[in-house]
Amino acid sequence: MSQLLFLIFLCVVRSATPDFTFKNVMVTCEDASDEEVPFGTVVTANKLKPHLPSSSCEKISIQHASIPVLNPGSLADITNISLLLLENDNIQTVAPGAFENVAVDEALSLKSNKLREIRRGVFNHVRTRNLVLSYNEISRVDSAAFDNMTLLETLFVDNNRLKSIDSEWFKDTPKLKKLHLQHNQILEIPPDAFKNLANNGALQINLNHNFISIVSPDAFRTARKIQFLGLAYNQLSFLPRDWLRRVKMNLLNLSNNRFACLNGGLAGRHSTNWVDGNPWNCKCLEDLKKMEHGTFGSIQADEALRRCSQCPTCLKLGIQGSFYCSQECFKNNWKNHKIIHSLAKGENPDKPRETSYNPWPYYTFTGQLRPFAQTPKRTVPEVIARPDYAEHPQGLPLSEQAVKGSGQIKILDDEEIEGMRVSCKLGREVLDEAARVCDVGVTTDEIDRAVHEACLERDCYPSPLNYYEFPASCCTSVNEVICHGIPDTRPLKDGDLCNVDITVYHRGFHGDLNETFFVGNVSDKHKNLVKVTYECLSKAIGIVKPGEKYREIGNVIQKHAQAHGYSVVRSYCGHGIHRLFHTAPNVPHYAKNRAVGVMKPGHCFTIEPMISMGTWRDEMWPDKWTAVTADGQWSAQFEQTLLVNETGCEILTRRRNSEGTPHFMDKM
Ligand SMILES: *[C@@H]1O[C@H](CO)[C@@H](O)[C@H](O)[C@H]1NC(C)=O
Ligand SMILES: *[C@@H]1O[C@H](CO)[C@@H](O)[C@H](O)[C@H]1NC(C)=O
Ligand SMILES: *[C@@H]1O[C@H](CO)[C@@H](O)[C@H](O)[C@H]1NC(C)=O
Ligand SMILES: *[C@@H]1O[C@H](CO)[C@@H](O)[C@H](O)[C@H]1NC(C)=O
Ligand SMILES: *[C@@H]1O[C@H](CO)[C@@H](O)[C@H](O)[C@H]1NC(C)=O
Ligand SMILES: *[C@@H]1O[C@H](CO)[C@@H](O)[C@H](O)[C@H]1NC(C)=O
Repeated sequence: MSQLLFLIFLCVVRSATPDFTFKNVMVTCEDASDEEVPFGTVVTANKLKPHLPSSSCEKISIQHASIPVLNPGSLADITNISLLLLENDNIQTVAPGAFENVAVDEALSLKSNKLREIRRGVFNHVRTRNLVLSYNEISRVDSAAFDNMTLLETLFVDNNRLKSIDSEWFKDTPKLKKLHLQHNQILEIPPDAFKNLANNGALQINLNHNFISIVSPDAFRTARKIQFLGLAYNQLSFLPRDWLRRVKMNLLNLSNNRFACLNGGLAGRHSTNWVDGNPWNCKCLEDLKKMEHGTFGSIQADEALRRCSQCPTCLKLGIQGSFYCSQECFKNNWKNHKIIHSLAKGENPDKPRETSYNPWPYYTFTGQLRPFAQTPKRTVPEVIARPDYAEHPQGLPLSEQAVKGSGQIKILDDEEIEGMRVSCKLGREVLDEAARVCDVGVTTDEIDRAVHEACLERDCYPSPLNYYEFPASCCTSVNEVICHGIPDTRPLKDGDLCNVDITVYHRGFHGDLNETFFVGNVSDKHKNLVKVTYECLSKAIGIVKPGEKYREIGNVIQKHAQAHGYSVVRSYCGHGIHRLFHTAPNVPHYAKNRAVGVMKPGHCFTIEPMISMGTWRDEMWPDKWTAVTADGQWSAQFEQTLLVNETGCEILTRRRNSEGTPHFMDKM
């Protein structure tokens, strides 16, 4: 049995080796005036030369053909041309001798093929000034691969898979001075890597976009003159002192590495050093700048210097020209300087700011709200049953992910409906508790604590806690925050809007609801926003019944919101909910959406329109949770969990007193 298989295998291999290099290959030929010389297809041949037109070809190109193997001698004796292009031809193997006695004045290009290695005997003796091997899969190059290329000036091996540099490659290329090795996987520059190029005059070596983390102190020991050395986009955090001791360099590019500090290591006096895009320590960068034009040449670090020398607050407020001499100077002048900030913000400089906490100094906020410090994650006693993500190190809800994409909407049975009724009722009680504490001067963290304790008292796990690592037990979304705000130590202010979003997990079921509360005396325009948002939810609930399409909900909501000049947030949708926190169906709140599915008795889902005063567009704070309006105008939201029954729906999370009206109505 195995014997037979072996024979078959041999046959397959044999027939896969083409006997002819050129089969149905279109050759294009241009003369010196760039005219295309009419030329056809080579049907089957092993050598190209006899098929070339007798009139002179200046440039020969075979592109987008299929030539997996270039057999020995296949391109032999092609001389007296300026360009030979074999690009995008699926070339995988080039046999030694394929280019025997080839002379291409300008360039030989095998760009964008599938070459994996360059063997000895393939290019040796080829007479050309440029050899282009870019965009292949080359990981191995024989150390004699380029020997006897006496005219070679530029070698392109960029965009390949080289892991190391071999100084032997250049031992017999007396004119080579430009090396393109960018976009490979080179890890280090070994001692004397370019020793064989050392006396070739002005070298240009491009090693940008590799994985270099080590440069040997002797890497350039024998080099004399380097016009350009590109080491941008590597992994360098350190350079040996004096590695450029004897080298005269014009341009050294060290952009986008990992330098925080550099004591020696830059190119001297008359060169230019590009060092932007590194995580500079400002003190080190200052020290480096002091040596500019003395020990080192010019130092280009515009972005880093701006970051280090301009007051970050000024940058954020768009105040021009506020530069400082040094960090020291900055500190000493801070008292006077910060008055500029206050003036720019139209504040009274005598009134102290409430907080200087800002975890993201370079983020431009869309509105007035700022993050405050958070308290540590709260804990839930062992005895309370918890969903799978509660214990997962990244908070992943594996049970949800398992059914993601199925789109199937679960029909709950009686037992499950009862489970949902109970957890939604408990969720409502917890939200009422939050409503009780939400007031001027209370921090959202205190609301979170009240919510957390109210959950535990009811044998509930607060569902948001650790869901994809969410750090709190509920979401508190203030003013321009659309949703998923993280409770923190900011005291609520008179006039704020604060949405509290509660989900509890009880005996295997999630109950989800949220309401927007008024904090103190809210302006009429914001009161109206909240009122209209609630009406949107009510109208949407009004159409829920068996046979209705899920996509109708968005039409109802957007019509009402638009009639009042508001917009509907599009990035966040209602969702199915039961044993899983978020699952099918997906319920968009905007008009003309393409949601799939028709409501049936036993379906359980949320509707939770988010309505904004300005744009519907949202963006995310760098905490990766807090969704805010892109224009900083305020947003409101209401949410209920609904169960479709035979005639309409049951609002499982309805308020059990005040005839089911939301809390804000108590204050209208
Ligand atoms: C080389 O090509 C030029 C024109 O491109 C032609 O005039 C000349 O005769 C050719 N020389 C040889 C030796 O083929
Ligand atoms: C380079 O040329 C010399 C002299 O013709 C020869 O001895 C040597 O083997 C050649 N190297 C390669 C790799 O072809
Ligand atoms: C340095 O390298 C970066 C990244 O490739 C590039 O954007 C920049 O223009 C280079 N600078 C010079 C002077 O070549
Ligand atoms: C309201 O609850 C839903 C369901 O959990 C959630 O997706 C939405 O973001 C919540 N709204 C706010 C403002 O937190
Ligand atoms: C709200 O306004 C009323 C009347 O102007 C005032 O008495 C009350 O103190 C205000 N409440 C807050 C929290 O500022
Ligand atoms: C469906 O729920 C609504 C609201 O709770 C209720 O009025 C109605 O009677 C229910 N229908 C059935 C068939 O149970």
